Amino acid sequence: MTTRIDITLNGNGTDHDIRVEPRRTLADALRQDCGLTGTNVGCEHGVCGACTVLLDGEPVRSCLMFAVQAQGRRLRTVEGLASADRLHPLQQAFTDHHALQCGYCTPGFLMLATGTLERHPDIDDESLRDVLSSNLCRCTGYQNILRAVREVRDAGRADAEGAR
Ligand code: FES
Ligand code: FES
Repeated sequence: MTTRIDITLNGNGTDHDIRVEPRRTLADALRQDCGLTGTNVGCEHGVCGACTVLLDGEPVRSCLMFAVQAQGRRLRTVEGLASADRLHPLQQAFTDHHALQCGYCTPGFLMLATGTLERHPDIDDESLRDVLSSNLCRCTGYQNILRAVREVRDAGRADAEGAR
């Protein structure tokens, strides 16, 4: 019989007390044990980025981590982006720029972009392109994803300028 371990995962500010096998991936635990099904799973071996979530603010591939490794850390998933009546600026920009088609890759791109802009609000175009190229999209051709993320970055810069 496989031993199962009691852990608490904090997702989007809510504690989820779950019992998992030590080998349970974080992606599976989020989806199947915490009910956070917005995180998608594609390749399951760290290539596509569909499963990207934020761990203490840093984008990580949740298919490459064990759930037990995320205990005591702060997890954010796509469900935590919007407020009650408003999309997150990146979600709005993805909509405005048609940066998704089938949408399978979108939660991963949104979390990658969120973590990147929060940590590097002044990221330049080339670096942004490089970061976003780590996730795969089979539909959009990437240009609209780049446009959407650039727009949010530029709006953040303008806000920062205005506050000075
Ligand atoms: Fe995790 Fe593809 S499902 S990187
Ligand atoms: Fe379909 Fe990106 S929108 S894979």
